[in-house]
Amino acid sequence: MMEKAFVLLLLLLHTSSTGVCSSEPEEINIKAGEMVALQCPYQSHSGDTRWVWTAYTPQEMALTSDTSCAKQGQMDVLVHGRSLVFLRASVKHQGNYSCSLGNASSQFRLTVYNTENKEKFSKICTAEESCTLSCPEVNIPDVNTLNMTSNPITWRKEGESLPNNGYFQSVGKEDKGVYICTRSYLYCGEKYNMTFTMVLDVKPKEPRKTEAITSPYNNDVFRVDLGSVVVIDCKAVAYSNFTEVFWLRDTSFVETNDSFPVFYNSTEEKKMDERKITASLVIKKVSEEDLSSKFTCKLESDSQMSVIVTITLAQKARPSYVSLVAAIVSIVVVMTVTVVIYVKFKIDLTLFLRDTLGCHRSPSDGKSYDAFLLCYDSDTDAGLKDCDRKWLESVLESSYGYSLCLYDRDILPGRAEAQAVLDCIENSRAVVLVPTPPDSGPGSALLSAIHAALVEHQSHLVFIKTEESQVPSSGSVGEALQLLGEAGDYVTWKGSSSLTSSSSFLKQLRYYLPAPQHPPKHRLLLQTAQDVTSGLNV
Ligand SMILES: *[C@@H]1O[C@H](CO)[C@@H](O)[C@H](O)[C@H]1NC(C)=O
Ligand SMILES: *[C@@H]1O[C@H](CO)[C@@H](O)[C@H](O)[C@H]1NC(C)=O
Ligand SMILES: *[C@@H]1O[C@H](CO)[C@@H](O)[C@H](O)[C@H]1NC(C)=O
Ligand SMILES: *[C@@H]1O[C@H](CO)[C@@H](O)[C@H](O)[C@H]1NC(C)=O
Ligand SMILES: *[C@@H]1O[C@H](CO)[C@@H](O)[C@H](O)[C@H]1NC(C)=O
Ligand SMILES: *[C@@H]1O[C@H](CO)[C@@H](O)[C@H](O)[C@H]1NC(C)=O
Ligand SMILES: *[C@@H]1O[C@H](CO)[C@@H](O)[C@H](O)[C@H]1NC(C)=O
Repeated sequence: MMEKAFVLLLLLLHTSSTGVCSSEPEEINIKAGEMVALQCPYQSHSGDTRWVWTAYTPQEMALTSDTSCAKQGQMDVLVHGRSLVFLRASVKHQGNYSCSLGNASSQFRLTVYNTENKEKFSKICTAEESCTLSCPEVNIPDVNTLNMTSNPITWRKEGESLPNNGYFQSVGKEDKGVYICTRSYLYCGEKYNMTFTMVLDVKPKEPRKTEAITSPYNNDVFRVDLGSVVVIDCKAVAYSNFTEVFWLRDTSFVETNDSFPVFYNSTEEKKMDERKITASLVIKKVSEEDLSSKFTCKLESDSQMSVIVTITLAQKARPSYVSLVAAIVSIVVVMTVTVVIYVKFKIDLTLFLRDTLGCHRSPSDGKSYDAFLLCYDSDTDAGLKDCDRKWLESVLESSYGYSLCLYDRDILPGRAEAQAVLDCIENSRAVVLVPTPPDSGPGSALLSAIHAALVEHQSHLVFIKTEESQVPSSGSVGEALQLLGEAGDYVTWKGSSSLTSSSSFLKQLRYYLPAPQHPPKHRLLLQTAQDVTSGLNV
């Protein structure tokens, strides 16, 4: 029906614009008793041309242009200029009509129904949106030229008694139905009606994307530096031309004029029926006042719910002195612990590194012995017994790979003895002085004699001393040791408890001795590693 009306309108437009007569008559359907006005599509441009209306009806009908009220009381048909008005249409009016202006003419075919008006208009509205029904302006009289009075249009819904104003704030499914609007005119004291039927359909609201504002700082605290420039984007997707996205500071609007310290500017991207709006809040220089304000981005629209996103600004955390102190304290603690561990385990660590990582001294110093083991007379009985000394020699040589110069093995007694001892000192990287019970160690009497040589060669001395005694201080040996001892290292012999390869005595001794020239056997390497581990676990 709507299409029909549309075509009709087009047709009228077409004919009136070209002034060419249409061969097809215009169909007009009207309910009996209603008013209908036919308009001749031609405009008169000069006063001497007149519209001529002709009726082609079964019963002859005189069309007069006498518009006096007395005359109209009998006629019900009114000709006025380009209009032909049927005040109350009846079946006898049914037929063909033509109007002409000069040599142009136009046809109408009037059909009058006794039953319900067949002509229906339709309107489609969307649920939950506003909807306005407008009463069609089809074949209505020109009230101004006809001296008619037009009354307000009234609406009613079919099957309901209550009048309706044709406007829905928010239309719903229950509003679907047939509506009738009545245009009422007063002419010569008589009331004449025109009714139109309109079918209202309500289509469901299209599901909209609910999420409208996306901001990474949604309801969040946004950390900023005082005095810095801050730009916060508020992004929204809108579906209507009447949607706005703007910023509020507390309860007042933020300016869009960029000469203000705080403003926003918005950009928009159109895509199909979507509008992507970005409103960027710009704070040129963050102040204390800005930190105590609430900034709200708001979307307002005629077609979707308002959405707001509120953010607050907070100052970025400064590094506090407490944490600085804590950092310093922890560094000190770590350093202390490191030092303590190093002091406590330096022997183990050194030996471990030396044994596992193979930190062996390169034999570039040309010396053939790692150490020269030389006995001296201890002033107590606590010195190393013969068997202990043999054990020590064998452990150092066979287990740890030291190459030793031993008095009773490498120095043959005879006239060259003194020279051999000197060679031994010269070719050894260290001299280990082993305390033995008086007159029991081989070569123990030599010490005082070779004192000068030791000093001369600046030999590295390692003193093994007993628990009971300090370095002997009496006698010629004692004096020599005292003089030498100031430059040497000390290792304490603790009797039988020192007789294991994992004893602290042996570790200390090895620590003070230079690394052996030849790497120890792998088997021992593992053992040493275990030693170190057990040492660390203590
Ligand atoms: C009106 O015109 C149509 C053709 O356009 C014709 O068929 C019909 O008979 C006419 N009616 C009258 C009453 O003259
Ligand atoms: C119709 O009248 C106009 C002047 O009003 C004229 O120019 C035109 O030629 C006429 N057409 C015919 C078909 O007589
Ligand atoms: C218009 O109608 C009123 C009465 O309805 C009448 O008094 C008046 O004279 C009319 N005017 C013209 C110009 O016909
Ligand atoms: C015209 O409509 C009014 C209500 O709008 C009604 O009271 C009246 O009876 C109608 N007149 C005719 C002739 O239908
Ligand atoms: C929105 O505005 C554009 C032009 O500015 C127009 O083409 C479009 O039809 C409008 N949409 C609505 C729903 O009003
Ligand atoms: C922006 O504000 C400044 C001063 O507040 C004013 O001079 C200027 O005209 C304003 N600009 C606009 C576009 O309103
Ligand atoms: C918004 O203002 C900022 C700061 O003046 C500017 O850098 C940016 O280009 C502006 N954006 C738009 C879309 O005008």
